[in-house]
Amino acid sequence: MKKPVVIGCGNMGSAIIDALLKQNMFTVGDFTIVEKQENAFTQKFLKEKATILDRLDRLPDDLELVILAVKPQDSKTVLTEIAPKTNQKTMVLSIMAGISIAAMESRLPRAQIIRCMPNTPCSIHQGMTVYCGNSQVSATFFQLAQQILGAMGKAFQVTDEIMIDAATAISGSGPAYVFFLAEALKEGASRLGFNDDQSDMLATQTLLGAAMLLDQSPESPGELCRRVTSPGGTTAAALNRFAESGLKEELIKGFKAAFQRSLELGQK
Ligand SMILES: NC(=O)c1ccc[n+]([C@@H]2O[C@H](COP(=O)([O-])OP(=O)(O)OC[C@H]3O[C@@H](n4cnc5c(N)ncnc54)[C@H](OP(=O)(O)O)[C@@H]3O)[C@@H](O)[C@H]2O)c1
Repeated sequence: MKKPVVIGCGNMGSAIIDALLKQNMFTVGDFTIVEKQENAFTQKFLKEKATILDRLDRLPDDLELVILAVKPQDSKTVLTEIAPKTNQKTMVLSIMAGISIAAMESRLPRAQIIRCMPNTPCSIHQGMTVYCGNSQVSATFFQLAQQILGAMGKAFQVTDEIMIDAATAISGSGPAYVFFLAEALKEGASRLGFNDDQSDMLATQTLLGAAMLLDQSPESPGELCRRVTSPGGTTAAALNRFAESGLKEELIKGFKAAFQRSLELGQK
């Protein structure tokens, strides 16, 4: 198995390393981590015997497997610095939001490149990642990417890069939509007389229970919704109100706005 180099050990970089260790795909000693400044994550991995570098020029030549987890604004520097150390065998897995495959290929023309869109639940191994590769990517690298990304939750490949922008609008930004619903549930609970702790518990546990039921049930979200909605009942009173205000269509318009914004940001 190729030894991974992780560039950028912040929230996502460290989450990937944690997930891979938990799945026993690698040992800590297999990792070379490049991070500009020491932080809590690098201190932890250093203690466990990973190789930690503070500069990209300290990386060995002929990189085999590189996971790019720096912020998009740092991408140019990182890609330029690693370029001389890459070749046709180098596998580059980028989680940088909005950095297109073409932008990476312009600096790493010979490398096998996979661009991914993970989401924040990856940090607790309940993430959703969608990924797309360039024409150089081998079947072996696609398999490895599926294993690496699958270690953080669920993952699937798309062949058209525009679907990465579509995934950004659904699963990338999605956790924020769910937190928005949690906030509304919590506020509703408070207004109906529950105290803060009770409102928090009601909102969180309702979302968690419903998500788990959805995951475990063979039925569609629509069917599950209809099942808890008896005609003339309490749920129907709320759902009728949502339907009158066109809530579902407004939400879908929001998702489309996120998709457009992802396309715009990718062109900058
Ligand atoms: N968080 C998410 O939910 C999410 C979802 C999808 C995609 N992503 C993508 O994941 C990437 C990482 O996000 P994050 O939240 O993990 O960011 P982060 O916590 O800021 O981690 C990035 C780390 O990279 C370091 N770094 C910057 N330039 C470097 C260089 N030249 N060499 C070595 N290290 C360098 C940064 O150090 P300094 O802080 O000192 O600059 C920082 O510690 C981003 O591109 C983001 O678009 C994140």
